[in-house]
Amino acid sequence: LGPINLGLLGLGTVGSGVVRLLEQNKAIITQKLGQPLNIKRILVRDLNRPRQVAVDPALLTTDPETILGDPDIPIIVEVMGGTGTAREYILQALSRGKSVVTANKDLLALYGKELFDAADAHGADLLFEASVGGGIPIIRPLKECLAGNRIRQVMGIINGTTNYILTKMSREGRDFNDVLKEAQSLGYAEADPTSDIEGDDAARKMAILASIAFGTRITYPEVYREGIGRLSSHDINYARDMGYAVKLLGIAREDEDGIEVRVHPALVPLNHPLASVSDVFNAIFVEGDAVGETMFYGRGAGSLPTASAVVGDIIEGARNLQHHDRGRISCTCFYDKPLKPIGA
Ligand code: NAP
Ligand code: HSE
Repeated sequence: LGPINLGLLGLGTVGSGVVRLLEQNKAIITQKLGQPLNIKRILVRDLNRPRQVAVDPALLTTDPETILGDPDIPIIVEVMGGTGTAREYILQALSRGKSVVTANKDLLALYGKELFDAADAHGADLLFEASVGGGIPIIRPLKECLAGNRIRQVMGIINGTTNYILTKMSREGRDFNDVLKEAQSLGYAEADPTSDIEGDDAARKMAILASIAFGTRITYPEVYREGIGRLSSHDINYARDMGYAVKLLGIAREDEDGIEVRVHPALVPLNHPLASVSDVFNAIFVEGDAVGETMFYGRGAGSLPTASAVVGDIIEGARNLQHHDRGRISCTCFYDKPLKPIGA
């Protein structure tokens, strides 16, 4: 069988990881799929920028139509970020019946319904494992493996950058801005790191997780959020002396009164498993009525860990193409449920 062509939108931290991983594990992936995957074109903003990975310059383009309008590219991988052109390109791809893999939580937490409706309408896949928890498999387990449960709570550390900063401030007494710069250079932070620091990135991820967990539609503005920007080393040291670690937690719960979703710094007892989740690692607890408590743990950001989730989705999308089974797992069955007012 001939190759399945991919069109990449973006070649930054995540896009470079995807290129690297597809090359590194080419033989294994081809064996698993029975067909090779081939990157046909890559959309970038600046053709002359030095790249983190070696690519044939002929693959690079600044014209999205050479990718979106190519009938020989059935899978689009959106790793450019943002909620403007990325949304436009994904909608165009879906309307042309292409499968889309995205790592873009900003987009899903705001325009999820529109995008899933478009995927549904065109019987296309919209896969987004990398949007929450970097390399941690959490979207598909929550949507599929735990589907038989009534989910009571989803809770955990879901931003790698802030966890990296808090860890380094606490354990090494480092300065906030100095560690933030390091997290940026390691490719953990968002293009605008304010979104990490102020809890917006975590709130977007909680909107996605809560929507799936509770089968409802929660958008990012509905999530209460408070970041770590106002925390000082003094606060962190004082907490540690009292037997607590300071962690930025995302919490989503459903009870008889409704759903609450929030993100804020919290004091975690030092003997709690979350207290030892350090550096860029994330950990997500999911509690279901049948399974009890489960914990998902791993690297929450960075080039190759995130590429692991993206490439997993590409393979899933390719398999669905092979089996003419598209659209099967793209859409969560959303129905409206009341959200508790913030602070209730
Ligand atoms: P990044 O390093 O800033 O890379 C973005 C890439 O997209 C760049 O190659 C850029 O081109 C290209 N791009 C951006 N806007 C464009 C436009 N309008 N037209 C054409 N190309 C455009 O970002 P990233 O860290 O890889 O993140 C990408 C996405 O993955 C975001 O949605 C982010 O939230 C998500 N994500 C990131 C991580 C992580 O650890 N970094 C983890 C999970 C999810 P140029 O290079 O030419 O400027
Ligand atoms: N900026 C995000 C983080 C990337 O630090 O968690 C992963 O989504």
